[in-house]
Amino acid sequence: MNTAQIQKNGKTNAIPERLAVLPARGNTLVPPSKGLDSPTQFVRKGKRMNWDELYAKRTRRMKRSAIRELLKVTRRPEVISFAGGLPAAELFPIPQVKAAVDAVLQRLGGKCLQYGETEGVPELREWVAHHFSRNGVQITAENVLITTGAQQALDLVGRVFLDENDRAVVENPTYLALLSAWRPYVGEFLAVPSDEHGMQMDAMPTLLEKRPKLIYITPNFQNPQGTTLTRERREKLVALLQEHGVALLEDNPYGELRYDGDALPHLLEIEAAEGKSRGLPNHVMYSGTFSKVLMPGLRVGWVIAAPEVIDKLGMAKQAADLHTSTICQYAALELLRRGFLDEFVPVLCKSYGQRRNLMLSALEKHFGGKAKWNRPEGGMFLLVSLPANYDTMKILPRALEQNVSYVPGEEFHINGEGKNTMRLNFSNARPEQIEEGIRRLASVM
Ligand SMILES: Cc1ncc(COP(=O)(O)O)c(C=O)c1O
Repeated sequence: MNTAQIQKNGKTNAIPERLAVLPARGNTLVPPSKGLDSPTQFVRKGKRMNWDELYAKRTRRMKRSAIRELLKVTRRPEVISFAGGLPAAELFPIPQVKAAVDAVLQRLGGKCLQYGETEGVPELREWVAHHFSRNGVQITAENVLITTGAQQALDLVGRVFLDENDRAVVENPTYLALLSAWRPYVGEFLAVPSDEHGMQMDAMPTLLEKRPKLIYITPNFQNPQGTTLTRERREKLVALLQEHGVALLEDNPYGELRYDGDALPHLLEIEAAEGKSRGLPNHVMYSGTFSKVLMPGLRVGWVIAAPEVIDKLGMAKQAADLHTSTICQYAALELLRRGFLDEFVPVLCKSYGQRRNLMLSALEKHFGGKAKWNRPEGGMFLLVSLPANYDTMKILPRALEQNVSYVPGEEFHINGEGKNTMRLNFSNARPEQIEEGIRRLASVM
């Protein structure tokens, strides 16, 4: 066989010269002897692949988390983990999930195991549209794309909008995996400082003069700080979007997990209520998920946006994974139809609210007067600030020796700030472990 040809279905297909040097199903094709420039030189027989020369520019911008390896030990059962953003596994509703999966298999048979539409199961898109059509928002399934977790929504938005000369505004600190998702695409992150009420609006007008393309925000119980954006700041932010014509992604995975205080309107609702966009998403895109209110293993989330944006996000999703798991979408839908979400969210709020209180009291007892932290009204995290000379990255190995873990705050900051901070998760450790975990932390600080 000619080296630049492969046999397929009885036909011989010509393949491009550059690809001819790649191994095809175990048969190493010999490189054409002439006409090969660097970087394909490396594939000459007998030489080791130099993958570094091949990576795309965007791949080179990816950053490995400095603590990933360290935190692998948190899987050991003796470790009290305040590190991951994990729900409490003992609360997972296994019998209810089993009943829902059995019911959909019984009712739908092969349909729920088949390939599905990229945009998502129509009834689930309808559910999302219906759920959000309140307080001025009037959306339809056309405004909804079901995604593989909210994380995919973040990635798709980055892919569809950001070029390497673009700027994106993020709170500092912000959600670590948003930075990972957008870093390969974006030219520059513009950091907005934040305080106990979230993103500071005073800093925004100057940043918006730099003409960023996107703003990313988690207004409720932010990850990592646990802060909530006030109503005044929400209104101001929406006004700024309209004034500067900039798009925003409102990421709200934790909004339903509120332990005190009253719910505040989504940015999506504030914009819709103004009437200019006639109830439809305009500058605001919204991402949501069942990960924190049902279970993350489902990997079902969604994004709400103008239909033309949904169309583009759908094209990007098709290339990424064709569609979100059909059976997981039907299982989520079944749980929703059975009213399980309304039953389960109060259970989670009660349990996580109690764990938050236990963590706050333990912090007071062991860190009182030595560190600062906030009191989150919901969600799963709080951020502790130690005196400026502390470096929580350096202290982490000592904490792990004591079988307790956290995430150093530096990981969530751009520009290497936040060295003296640590993010603590209070939803995953069992209530009876929380005080002991905080005591161990205090002993190594
Ligand atoms: C702020 C934020 N956005 C998005 C996600 C992704 O959630 P999902 O499990 O739906 O992909 C997380 C997960 O921890 C998060 O903290």
